[in-house]
Amino acid sequence: MKFSSVLLGVALSAGTALADVDPIVIKGSKFFYKTNGTEFFIRGVAYQQSYTGGSSTDNNNKYVDPLADPATCKRDIPYLQALRTNTIRTYAIDPKANHDECMQMLQDAGIYVISDLSSPAESINRDSPEWNVDLYNRYTSVIDALAKYPNVIGFFAGNEVSNNHTNTDASAFVKAAVRDMKKYIKAKNYRPMGVGYATNDDSEIRVNMANYFNCGPSEESIDFWGYNVYSWCGDSNYQKSGYEARTQEFSDYSVPVFFAEYGCNEVQPRKFTEVAALFGEQMSKVWSGGIVYMYFQEENDYGLVSVSGNTVSKLPDYDFLSKQIASATPTGVNSAAYTPTNTAAQACPTIGSNWQASEKLPPSPNPDLCECMVKSLKCGVKDNVSDKDIGKLFGIVCGYDGICDGISGNATSGKYGAYSMCQARDRVSFAINRYYEQQVAKGNGDSACDFDGAAELKSSSSTSGTCGTLLNEAGVEGTGTVTSSPTSPGGSGAASTGSSSSSSAAARPMAVPGSVQVGMWQFGAYIITAVIAGVGMIVL
Ligand SMILES: *[C@@H]1O[C@H](CO)[C@@H](O)[C@H](O)[C@H]1NC(C)=O
Ligand SMILES: *[C@@H]1O[C@H](CO)[C@@H](O)[C@H](O)[C@H]1NC(C)=O
Ligand SMILES: *[C@@H]1O[C@H](CO)[C@@H](O)[C@H](O)[C@H]1NC(C)=O
Ligand SMILES: *[C@@H]1O[C@H](CO)[C@@H](O)[C@H](O)[C@H]1NC(C)=O
Repeated sequence: MKFSSVLLGVALSAGTALADVDPIVIKGSKFFYKTNGTEFFIRGVAYQQSYTGGSSTDNNNKYVDPLADPATCKRDIPYLQALRTNTIRTYAIDPKANHDECMQMLQDAGIYVISDLSSPAESINRDSPEWNVDLYNRYTSVIDALAKYPNVIGFFAGNEVSNNHTNTDASAFVKAAVRDMKKYIKAKNYRPMGVGYATNDDSEIRVNMANYFNCGPSEESIDFWGYNVYSWCGDSNYQKSGYEARTQEFSDYSVPVFFAEYGCNEVQPRKFTEVAALFGEQMSKVWSGGIVYMYFQEENDYGLVSVSGNTVSKLPDYDFLSKQIASATPTGVNSAAYTPTNTAAQACPTIGSNWQASEKLPPSPNPDLCECMVKSLKCGVKDNVSDKDIGKLFGIVCGYDGICDGISGNATSGKYGAYSMCQARDRVSFAINRYYEQQVAKGNGDSACDFDGAAELKSSSSTSGTCGTLLNEAGVEGTGTVTSSPTSPGGSGAASTGSSSSSSAAARPMAVPGSVQVGMWQFGAYIITAVIAGVGMIVL
């Protein structure tokens, strides 16, 4: 059954494939069809089943890739088309899966894709934010998987990561992700695709959030801003819903803004009267449309349809949206006739009680630097120490003054250790080695490399050449600034994860390019031992 429907999908998409869709491009604060310059307004629907969102606490990392099963795409696309959908938002795709058929079917239906880059277990955690080698590999692998499809508009580097005034520091790490993914797309010579962010609507931080991601050098700031808005409930109106105020706030924004999620469900059925406002005269000058949350009916009760096997049943919301979206036809401007006037970036927010993210961003993950560092250590963590024990080791070793400056970061002061982006295992080894070297200097000898049996002496290799340069920049304490790029082609981590220690399945479920190299170094110590043993045998 499954087999035959997959075959049918192949036959259909192969038989009916049209020419590639026209890519969507960004000019000023608007989207356009590349070829004819017609302004593009997003008539979007969020499309992902059983997704609980990037809480980063979900170590199972279970999600259903909505673009990997041709049978479900084929089942759902007609329902999306009937809603005049021209964009879907996906929250987590599996970079290893094949997306050719779904992406072709979407293309044939004139539907574009904006995808989040994270996954449930691989996202920036608002409570202990990091932008590290593992996340870098996850994000770039999603870009690599989708870049070949002309109907990809761009990506979200995060969704509602900072969500109130207590965790705004996390935004520095998200913005670093934006910076590095923009750089990566350029370095790989991919077609221009935007990197944005999807924010929640917290009254205390929303203005600072929007300003922060649109301030400073354009290489570091977002290409578009997605707003998750649920403030128009039932028969609200332009003023009462806050839409008027939001529209004023964004009237001078320099990049496109749109609703990355909308559709309050406090009053049911949802009549979607906000659609007329969003695509109407006033708002369409500022907003590029929006994405209705969401296609599938689930526990949270936001569905347009319910699905059961191969059967799709429209819910009342579907018909209401259908009626409203039928008249969502803003005129827009043609690209050729449009000269952006909102060209200035916003001012970065000042640090205060409602804002704790410095405009100085965390360093780019640089797996080569981490690898060089680990190779240089005289004492480090044993390979078989569990992830849980690694966590405990931080608590112990970082209790010693200044030992952990090179591996920690503070987004409020804007001070980040050069190794703060390395894997946890590598970072803890750095700290353990610092402690060990201090003890040796005090004459306390090799017994300092122990940590209850978790640490062992390593055969450190000399640090000349590229490694020498990187390590010099980082400094002995790891508090220097590394400006040299990794040697791997295509940007850091593109061809080599370079991360030197083993990583559990939970910490890195994705197969990443270059994992063979990881494996080799992972077992490097054993290989060296074996070679020495072998030489010994020959001599004997
Ligand atoms: C421009 O191209 C798009 C898609 O290819 C199409 O939907 C739109 O109608 C075109 N605009 C005009 C004015 O023909
Ligand atoms: C901020 O958000 C976090 C995470 O959702 C939540 O646990 C916390 O209670 C919130 N704090 C305030 C003051 O709203
Ligand atoms: C790790 O390996 C060492 C031998 O190198 C062994 O003594 C120790 O028990 C192992 N620890 C764990 C947690 O497996
Ligand atoms: C981070 O830096 C800020 C500003 O300098 C400081 O107030 C805060 O205590 C620091 N946080 C930590 C955990 O050191």
